[in-house]
Amino acid sequence: MSAAASPAQVLQIDERVASVVREGLGLRPKRLPAWLFYDCVGSKLFDAITRLPEYYLTRTERGIFLEASEQIIERASSGRRLRIAELGAGSADKTRLLLQAAVTRQRSVLYEPVDVSASALDLAKRRIEREIRGVTVMPRVMDYTDGDDHKFHLGPMDEDESRLVLYIGSSIGNFEPHQAARLLRRVRAGLEIGDAILLGIDLVKDEATLLTAYNDAAGVTAAFNRNVLVRLNRELDADFDVEAFAHRAVWNKAASRIEMHLESRIAQQVNIGALDFAVEFAAGETIHTENSYKYQPGQVETLLAETGFRAEATFADPRGWFAVCLGRAN
Ligand code: AVJ
Repeated sequence: MSAAASPAQVLQIDERVASVVREGLGLRPKRLPAWLFYDCVGSKLFDAITRLPEYYLTRTERGIFLEASEQIIERASSGRRLRIAELGAGSADKTRLLLQAAVTRQRSVLYEPVDVSASALDLAKRRIEREIRGVTVMPRVMDYTDGDDHKFHLGPMDEDESRLVLYIGSSIGNFEPHQAARLLRRVRAGLEIGDAILLGIDLVKDEATLLTAYNDAAGVTAAFNRNVLVRLNRELDADFDVEAFAHRAVWNKAASRIEMHLESRIAQQVNIGALDFAVEFAAGETIHTENSYKYQPGQVETLLAETGFRAEATFADPRGWFAVCLGRAN
């Protein structure tokens, strides 16, 4: 090819995206990683999901924080000043309750959101510093899912401080149990003895409630699922006919997870222009796009115990739908 294309037409390819797509669509069954959902549109769709009547997770966890933020902050601090880090760029509403409780207790707090996206962190910084007096935001741009332990050091603290790392919203539910353990060990490696982690995780409950949360009547979750194909059309010059794929969310009881899939309604071929790669779909063939693991009561505590933490306290809602567990680095 010649250099005829004007700069405006040159597709900037994210190698990370290209490589997971090349690999995942070459597998049988086909699969794509869940982090691909979160482009700009996908992040907005997820935000809409958290407000759906069927999606009880966010609301339930927020209820726990409404009830127990002061207690959580007090338990976490054990006499020292707390610094609060968060994996993911500030899930706004829920984090705010904890930050507010910390400000009430110690007058001011340093908040360190950790995310791969500098722009998401920038937005979080401006919003949070404007909205909660006493909070200073120190964004940390890094990929905490990256395999390298060194990438998880948040930086030194003062003598009288300790850290609380938030990993809430059941985000850890996207990982296979062994990956979740590996991630927590990596987090632990960046902490000192006495630091704390707050892990929020969705629990196993009746199947109808679980299924409905991922098959909402308004179709927002379906749009969120299909958006991954829209993203590949744009970023990799693919030609997915998005409407030719159906949203499927199923409960895999044996594995204790909700699975999301995109099911090809017809036999079709899709071209991924930027990868020079054609993908064949049989009618009914699926792409596995997400796992959302649900834990049994007590399992979160076990996971923490296996990864260098002592489970100190668990906070749950009255129905026992969601658990927030405080672990102490030991
Ligand atoms: C952000 C991973 C917690 O698993 O419930 C919501 C993502 N997927 N609806 C979840 C999601 C479909 C969500 N997490």
